[in-house]
Amino acid sequence: MTDRDADEGREAGDYRPGLEGVIAAETRLSRIDGEAGELVIGGFPVPELAANATFEETLYLLWNDRLPTGPELDSLRERLRRNRRLPAETLAVVREVADRGDPAMDALRAAVASANVGREGGEDPERDAIRATAIVPTAAAAYWRYRRGETPVAPREDLGHAANYLYALTGEEPTDAAVRGLETYLNCVVDHGLNASTFVARSVVSTESDLLSAVTAGVGALKGPLHGGAPGPVLDMLRVVHDSGDPETWVRDRLDSGERLMGFGHRVYRVRDPRASVLSAAAERFYEGEEDRGFFETAVAFEDVARELLAEHRPDHRLDTNVEFYTAVLLAGVGVPRDLFTATFAVGRVGGWTAHCMEQLENNRIVRPRARYVGSEGRTWTPLGER
Ligand code: ACO
Repeated sequence: MTDRDADEGREAGDYRPGLEGVIAAETRLSRIDGEAGELVIGGFPVPELAANATFEETLYLLWNDRLPTGPELDSLRERLRRNRRLPAETLAVVREVADRGDPAMDALRAAVASANVGREGGEDPERDAIRATAIVPTAAAAYWRYRRGETPVAPREDLGHAANYLYALTGEEPTDAAVRGLETYLNCVVDHGLNASTFVARSVVSTESDLLSAVTAGVGALKGPLHGGAPGPVLDMLRVVHDSGDPETWVRDRLDSGERLMGFGHRVYRVRDPRASVLSAAAERFYEGEEDRGFFETAVAFEDVARELLAEHRPDHRLDTNVEFYTAVLLAGVGVPRDLFTATFAVGRVGGWTAHCMEQLENNRIVRPRARYVGSEGRTWTPLGER
């Protein structure tokens, strides 16, 4: 058997649509057990990390494989601070996207893509990681303020990363509870194995392209409704059901008409996503004592009904709550606008994308899978005039 035959045999036998189950990288960044419902990030079970870490500590952990000392953390905070502002040219593009009413993810993509324009220093993965991480929340908040006919608010030097994001949205200092809620969310979503956007980012740097190109591609992948676009629709459905008070009819109608229930189902988890557990607890804490506590209760009631009806609907394929369900509840509570949910996912996930890119570069091999050809063979050319 020639090498070519062997390759073709392998292609035919091993074709996995969506690369399901294919191991395409080794990583120390996160481990997922889809059957047990476990997620470990940088060695910490996600509930442990989410309960304790500031987002800056999580970034340091992923980028360096250990927790920072006090001075190291200060230095990282300072570097983020110095990189937060967007150049006027980038702000102009963000404004254009906002004025046209295009999605926030389009503004993020443009902002990351132009992040190094006019900056000295060539390409440097670590510097680009900090730059990308620092500007994503600035760009998301600037987009939002332009959408509302306001001007962007300059970042505050004394606030941390999560607090600065909330501050940049409203111009008001956020409460500790809101900052902690957002930080819990960012820690939960910072990394998650070889998800679609992370795979894309790793593929881009594997060609020895630069990290900002990889993050730009990651933003593009995250924009899709099957990946990062679910929490907006989750919030919409919860609002409808909160008003109607009847989750069962709503869920049955959707499933009967063949629609997917947003916030449920996952490629890897066959049980409730562990991040859903962390986020539901965080949302419960946040909504405690809030006027709209009833909204959290609606979400809990909806989840119970949905899990039961999904099990009836698909006894052969376990569909359980994914991260996006309580993301919608928590982010809405802490004051992130619905139209920024996916962009806020990027505020967290950019930490994972950049860490994966640096990991890929440690031991790089270009990502180059194969495709099984199913097209025609042996065609003969018909000149244009005869077609
Ligand atoms: N509601 C109803 N049915 C569903 C759902 C759902 N949420 N999810 C999957 N199914 C059904 C599919 O229709 C499919 O049925 P079929 O076999 O009759 O065609 C079957 O379950 C398997 O679906 P796949 O798309 O093959 O499952 P996969 O594991 O590849 O998909 C995905 C995972 C894309 C997340 C899917 O569950 C989904 O679309 N969920 C809703 C969107 C969502 O919440 N996305 C956020 C995911 S979390 C994240 O990316 C961070």
